[in-house]
Amino acid sequence: MAIAAESLAAKLPAHFMLGVATAAFQIEGAVAEDGRGPSGWDAFTHLPGRIVDGTDADIACDHYHRMPEDVELIHALGADSYRFSLSWPRIQPDGRGPVNRKGVDFYDRLLDRLLERGISPMCTIYHWDTPLPLEQEGGWLNRETAYRLAEFAALAADAFGDRVDRWVTINEPATVTLNGYALGLHAPGVPHLFDSLPAAHHLLLGHGLSVEALRTASVRGEVGITNVYSPVVPATEGFGNELMVQLYDILFNGMFADPVLLGSYPRFNPLLTPFLAYFHTVPEEDIALMHQPLDFYGLNYYFPSRIAPGPGPLTGPHAKPEGVPEQFVQDVQDMPFHLTGWPGYERTGFGWPVAPQYLGVALTEMARRYPGMPPVYITEGGASFTDVVVEDALTGEPEVADVKRTEYLADHINAALEATAPGGPAEAIDLRGYYVWTLMDNFEWAAGYSQRFGLVYVDFATQRRIPKASYKWLQQLASHRDRAR
Ligand code: NOJ
Repeated sequence: MAIAAESLAAKLPAHFMLGVATAAFQIEGAVAEDGRGPSGWDAFTHLPGRIVDGTDADIACDHYHRMPEDVELIHALGADSYRFSLSWPRIQPDGRGPVNRKGVDFYDRLLDRLLERGISPMCTIYHWDTPLPLEQEGGWLNRETAYRLAEFAALAADAFGDRVDRWVTINEPATVTLNGYALGLHAPGVPHLFDSLPAAHHLLLGHGLSVEALRTASVRGEVGITNVYSPVVPATEGFGNELMVQLYDILFNGMFADPVLLGSYPRFNPLLTPFLAYFHTVPEEDIALMHQPLDFYGLNYYFPSRIAPGPGPLTGPHAKPEGVPEQFVQDVQDMPFHLTGWPGYERTGFGWPVAPQYLGVALTEMARRYPGMPPVYITEGGASFTDVVVEDALTGEPEVADVKRTEYLADHINAALEATAPGGPAEAIDLRGYYVWTLMDNFEWAAGYSQRFGLVYVDFATQRRIPKASYKWLQQLASHRDRAR
C-alpha cells in the first residue's frame, strides 16, 4: 500500500514544488515537420538492432500536435511545475546558424499555455538530441560542440528568457558519456570505453559556457544543471572491490558533480591512473568555467549501484541489446568492474532495484561532499513497470492500477523529505521539489516503448491518454497539500 496522499501532504514544506518532467525527443514526434532537422538520436534509432523493440521516435507521443491536451493533463494533475526540454534540431536544425522560426513558435505556444494555467516552466536546454551535423563532426568528443551549445543557449535565452522560471543547462551528462560514448548503447552508438572521458569534459564545458550565455542575456529565471546520482556500494569485501567502487563512483557521480560544485575533478587512488589519467591533462581554465555559481542544483535519482570487481557479465542497465558488435561486448566484458544484482530488493521493469532509502543516502552523501551547495530540486525520479489496462466494471472506462509505481513515488518522496527534514542526515540540503519522471509513457531511448514510466498511459496505436492510479494519487497529494496551506 502506498503511503496515503493525505499524510504525505502534511510533510511537504511550504512552497515545495511538485512537478512532472519530459524530454523533447521522447514525446514530440513530428521529426520532419516545420523545418526540424535530424538529430543524432534520429539516426541512431534507424540503425538496425539498436532499439530493443525495433521502434523509433518518429511519432512518439505526437506531443507536437497534442501539446494543448497534454498541458491540460498537467493542469488537472495540480502540478506546480513542468520540466520539458527544447529540441535543439527543431530550433536550430544545423546546430549552428539561423533559428527555425516555426520551432521557436512551438515553445512560445507551450510556454504561454503553461503560464496561463499557472504552471511554472522549468526548461532543459539539452536533453540529448544533438543536431546530426554536430554529431557527425564528433558530437561531444569534439570540443566545438560545447561552444555550439552555448550559442544555442543564447538563442533560447533570447526567445524564452522572459518566461522560463528555471533553466537546466544539460540533463545527465553522465548518461550521455557512459551510455552514449563509453558503451555505445545510446547515440551516437560507438563504444569508446575510457577514451570517452573527453565527452564528459566537453559536456561540462558546454554547461559552463551555457551558464555564462544565460547570465549575459540576463534571463529572469534561475539557472542550474541536472546530474544523476547513484550511491555506490561494494558487492564483496576487499581492497579490489573498494577500488572499483571508487572508480565507478567517479565515473557516474564525482566526475560530473565535483567540477560543477567544487571546481575540481575528483581525486583518485593512483592505482586508477591507467583509467583516469585524462583528468591530469585538462586546462585549469576549463574547470573554472564549469564552476559557475548556480541558483539550484538538479538531482535525478533512480537506483543505487552495487559494484563487483572483474570483467562482465553485462547486467542491469548495461545489458547488451541486440545488434551491438561482438568486439564491443568483449571490450566491456574486459572492463575492470561490473554492476551486480540486489538480492532481496524488488525490481522495476528495467531490473533496477527499488530502494527509496538510497535516495536518502544520495542526499546525505551530497550534503557531506558538497557543503554549501545550492538549493536542490529532484528533477527526476520514477519507475517503469508493466501496465495493464482494464475496463472499470461499472463505468466501462479504461483504468491502470499501477500500484507499484504509486508506491515507488510515495516512498521516494517520503524518503527525500525525511532525509532533509530538520534533524535528518541530509538536513543541510535545501530541498525545493520533486519532479516525477514522467508525465506520460514515451520513447525510452534504447528501450523504445518497452518501458513505461508515465503517470499517464499512452496507447501508442491511438494516442489515447489514460491517467493511471499513480496520476490520481499525485493529484490527491497536490490537492491535500493545497488545502493544508
Ligand atoms: C533519465 C533521463 O533523463 C530520461 O530521459 C530517462 O527517460 C529516464 N532517466 C528513465 O530512464
